[in-house]
Amino acid sequence: MAEQLGELSRTHTCGALRPGDVGTEVVLLGWVHRVRDLGGVLFVDVRDREGVTQVVFDAGAATMAKAKRLRSEFVVGVAGAVRRRSAETVNPKLDTGEVEVAVRELTILNEAKTPPFPIADDTPVSEEVRLRYRYLDLRRGRLQANIGLRHRITATIRRYFDAQGFWDIETPILTKSTPEGARDYLVPSRVHAGEFYALPQSPQLFKQILMLSGMDRYVQICRCFRDEDLRADRQPEFTQVDVEMAFARPTTIFGVIEPLMAEVMSVIGVTLARPFRRMPYSEAMAVYGTDKPDLRPGMPIQDIREVFRASSFRVFRDIVAGGGTVRGFVVPDSGATSRSEVDGLVDEAKALGGSGLVWARRGEDGTITSSVMKAVGEADVTRMLDATGTGQGQILLVAAGEPDAASKLLGQLRLNIARRRGMLKADHWEFVWVVDFPLLEWDAEARRYLAMHHPFTSPVDEDLDLLEREPGRARAKAYDLVLNGTEIGGGSIRIHDAGLQARIFSLLGITPEEASLRFGFFLEALEYGTPPHGGIALGLDRIIALLLNESSIREVIAFPKTAAAVDLMAGAPSAVDRRQLKELHLA
Ligand code: AMO
Repeated sequence: MAEQLGELSRTHTCGALRPGDVGTEVVLLGWVHRVRDLGGVLFVDVRDREGVTQVVFDAGAATMAKAKRLRSEFVVGVAGAVRRRSAETVNPKLDTGEVEVAVRELTILNEAKTPPFPIADDTPVSEEVRLRYRYLDLRRGRLQANIGLRHRITATIRRYFDAQGFWDIETPILTKSTPEGARDYLVPSRVHAGEFYALPQSPQLFKQILMLSGMDRYVQICRCFRDEDLRADRQPEFTQVDVEMAFARPTTIFGVIEPLMAEVMSVIGVTLARPFRRMPYSEAMAVYGTDKPDLRPGMPIQDIREVFRASSFRVFRDIVAGGGTVRGFVVPDSGATSRSEVDGLVDEAKALGGSGLVWARRGEDGTITSSVMKAVGEADVTRMLDATGTGQGQILLVAAGEPDAASKLLGQLRLNIARRRGMLKADHWEFVWVVDFPLLEWDAEARRYLAMHHPFTSPVDEDLDLLEREPGRARAKAYDLVLNGTEIGGGSIRIHDAGLQARIFSLLGITPEEASLRFGFFLEALEYGTPPHGGIALGLDRIIALLLNESSIREVIAFPKTAAAVDLMAGAPSAVDRRQLKELHLA
């Protein structure tokens, strides 16, 4: 039976007591973490958010009979005096491990059913069970620490932006579709039959409108909703740190976000070097085969076309002559790599859809070997190794063909190798701004251009005259912030001129009618004195997961959804009754 709290009040948390408290009368409130019955004496670990403290029911204690009823996860209040533990029972793993509380009074505030899994970090439990009983999962130390860090980071971010003169402004959740390229979650209107609100994929248009409303500097830590295929770093609802500034250039945004990230990293005791590296998109694609380069393992992909321009090896010479590429990267310390491992890489390249992987190696003793030794000849193989700086005991991995495909293949191999060799160190932080994205990307299926970022992104000034001539080559004032190979943010300088906006819509094949239907309110607003402006949104869940070295953002969200977008605890989505559907004018 549950007892009342009455006047019982906590004097200390379960993480607080130290030898200096010996002799003090204390009251602890918490959950029974563990019970050990040593015949005469009963040891109980009591747990709350801040830690665990051992409390003791001595032999013959008046409370002993009641204490014998205690089971894991019962909620208790204990009152008693702090005493030092005997030397042999000191627990160095606990902050409170030098003391214990000799219980004088025990209140059982509630009982608990036996949990489906122990509330301990070291017992493996399937994710499905964890999510079904998320309230119990959240009691475990790892998630308590994760949610606690999330709070501290959010608080740091709010303090930072306040100090920088940003206003925290809320934007609507029930709104009109916003253009981030995913599917919308729709909410039917009861009052307006057949009409729907959309949940925001981001506050993009509202934050731009706030700039033309004169709000100058906006920030919001907000939920965004996107109905898209989920992965470890994607949730259907996720949190952005959404930022917009009037009169901003890309460097204005970098100048706000870099010190912010430095403060965020300082929460986990890391000091960041600034400014962050900036890398054009074209370089990221060529040298790392991705627009989210992980710079930790080094191993840049190098261009070795020169070696083959006049080579007797026809295959590569023809590829180079035809505008293709020959590229490769050096795997350091690969002396120990066995022949079968090297063959494994060739198979791996095939599995990744590559047209073929060539390798060349300089042995520890200087002997040169290669998968194409016969065809290419020792002279060109040696030139290839020299050109890339492949030293003794190192291997050069080479792909040839269409430039993007070759770099993508090598980029994936590079990451796989780095992962297998432990070169992706969890305590090594590589931030990089990827800049100068193409404005448009060609959608071969739809046979038209799509906005690479979103249709409100401004082209680079020098590329304005390319828009009609060679739109595919125009670059955007867009930037992504990448941390250790994960895109943690993206933004751009926006178009603030209605005429230019109309040109971009026409390039994107959006008719004036369609534009006015979808964003009419916004285009109209643009015409009332819009300042140049720009901003960024950071993916808060991703940042926290990276800081905690968690492989999924589900580990840093209190109530996440599964990969099938299901809330296993609440049971959402779910069917609704006919009456509700009828009210909403839904069949
Ligand atoms: P973007 O779509 O790039 O930009 O989103 C910004 C950042 O949000 C994170 N993110 C996600 N995190 C978890 N789950 C998801 N499904 C998910 N989708 C995106 C990423 C990403 O970098 N309005 C623009 C920003 C701007 O231009 O200012 C926008 O939303 O870390």
